[in-house]
Amino acid sequence: MKILGYTFIVTGGASGLGESVVRSLIEQGAFVAIFDINVKLATTLVEELGKNKCYFPSSVDVTVEDQVNIAVQKTLQYFSTSTLRGAILSSGIVFSPMDGYGPDKTLTSYSQFEHIIRVNLLGTYCVAQKVAQELLRNEPVNDDGERGVIITVSSILGLDGTLVGYGTSKAGIAGLTLPLAKELAPQGIRVMSIAPGPFDTPIVQRQNNTAPTCLYPSRYGQPKEFSDLVVQVIGMRMLNGSVIRLDGALKA
Ligand SMILES: NC(=O)c1ccc[n+]([C@@H]2O[C@H](COP(=O)([O-])OP(=O)(O)OC[C@H]3O[C@@H](n4cnc5c(N)ncnc54)[C@H](O)[C@@H]3O)[C@@H](O)[C@H]2O)c1
Repeated sequence: MKILGYTFIVTGGASGLGESVVRSLIEQGAFVAIFDINVKLATTLVEELGKNKCYFPSSVDVTVEDQVNIAVQKTLQYFSTSTLRGAILSSGIVFSPMDGYGPDKTLTSYSQFEHIIRVNLLGTYCVAQKVAQELLRNEPVNDDGERGVIITVSSILGLDGTLVGYGTSKAGIAGLTLPLAKELAPQGIRVMSIAPGPFDTPIVQRQNNTAPTCLYPSRYGQPKEFSDLVVQVIGMRMLNGSVIRLDGALKA
């Protein structure tokens, strides 16, 4: 799938890994819509990158189906001379604002678990499904009959089994990859997931950078390294139905 001239939706595009994806896709000549609840950061990014290439349809909570539906339709209208060819689903949270239970309330309560699963796993599938519904309408774009691509963001914490709420949500996102790729394969839509190790973004900075560094390179990943991989995944048709660890050999 080429990127130049096509439209992509980036959830969590106002910050961190998603912001880097927005920048990289626009550098490659795409039109990009940001679905995010951080109005201030999203608006500032659109101002910087230009309203002709970057669009923020107003606050979009990925867990609210109506908001996602409306935002997808607004995106299609806003970039009506282009074709929507995919989505990168990078919105996510590590902790929930609810109380835990047990000693010092450090154990994961059901309300914490439910909140994190809702934002990370259900929010990811909500946007994936709405985008897939639109991609179905596309004319195939190459001799493989490709209509579009969906890239989700898991985590090595999900693959290696760390943090009850977050880890389970990210394991769910990884687990979604192959079944969804199989379901959408006859429609020419690819589904891939990237499972990053620690990357230098606000999500890690908010934990006072207590996350371990990767083994080699012995540092945090840079958001640009993540978005470079997204660009490669979009371009490489044989990548489908799998989860790529991007972790400098770190196991969580
Ligand atoms: N940074 C890392 O080390 C790391 C490692 C593994 C996985 N990840 C995953 O990468 C993704 C991006 O994380 P990041 O590091 O860029 O963090 P970030 O906090 O910088 O960005 C997350 C974005 O998601 C948005 N968001 C949160 N809830 C939302 C909702 N309900 N609806 C719409 N938008 C919402 C936030 O406003 C924010 O802009 C997340 O899914 C995260 O779990 C990050």
